[in-house]
Amino acid sequence: MEKKVILLTGASGGLGRELARLLKDEFRMALHYYKGEKELEENADCYYFQADLRQESEIQEMIKKVILHFGQIDILINNAGVSHSAMTWKTESEAWKNTLAINLDAPFYLAKAVIPHLRERKGGSIINISSVVAQTGYIGTSAYAASKAGLIGLTKSLSKELAHFQINANVLALGYFNTGMIEEVPENQLDDIVNQIPMNRLGEPNLIASTIKWLSSDEGAYVTGQTINLNGGLYS
Ligand SMILES: NC(=O)c1ccc[n+]([C@@H]2O[C@H](COP(=O)([O-])OP(=O)(O)OC[C@H]3O[C@@H](n4cnc5c(N)ncnc54)[C@H](OP(=O)(O)O)[C@@H]3O)[C@@H](O)[C@H]2O)c1
Repeated sequence: MEKKVILLTGASGGLGRELARLLKDEFRMALHYYKGEKELEENADCYYFQADLRQESEIQEMIKKVILHFGQIDILINNAGVSHSAMTWKTESEAWKNTLAINLDAPFYLAKAVIPHLRERKGGSIINISSVVAQTGYIGTSAYAASKAGLIGLTKSLSKELAHFQINANVLALGYFNTGMIEEVPENQLDDIVNQIPMNRLGEPNLIASTIKWLSSDEGAYVTGQTINLNGGLYS
């Protein structure tokens, strides 16, 4: 059977690199990066695409290039994201706008650009990567939490608009994982975070990869509009 094509944004980041590695044998991979490194060797089934996702025109151009290269997109994973740490009253408007632009506007523009193609193909999956912080809030993360909470509303509306076309749309609300932006957290704060997780450990990217495989398979196709909590018991 022909392998499905995944467009994974932020494939140069900590989680993105791991997801690319874990998914590349079962899927054809369109890997997005911005300023980071291409980690995997490129070939016909695995190819990198550069874009600043704050620019709708770059998103549209990238989608065209991916379809030209692979002939199709089956699964969009909106994984690229940035965090910004500051108390609300110290958050500069540029930082607020930048966080919203990458974490919320870009997934909207990516979905908007991919949907006509998925509709033509009468199937597919959109998976947005959110955070437990969207559900609980966390001191010093108002821009990040707001952007990630916005993804949940966006996804619920997408699921209702797209169900008729057999396209499912879901959000993965991640707790704390062992790579990526977690590396910016100071060691002493990391211990506090791990102590708060009922399972007392960080998550591993293979849980995210297996959830993506399930949601994009025939077995998971009936699941849509859901916020799937991958958080070791941090929020339920
Ligand atoms: N790691 C965790 O524990 C955790 C927990 C909850 C949620 N998440 C979510 O998981 C996702 C991946 O996080 P991560 O930990 O892997 O973060 P990361 O290592 O910081 O990677 C961030 C990614 O976003 C891309 N990016 C940043 N600015 C961009 C822009 N203007 N245009 C396009 N791409 C841009 C980066 O591209 P370049 O490097 O190429 O510039 C990079 O690939 C994020 O949405 C994050 O919110 C992570």
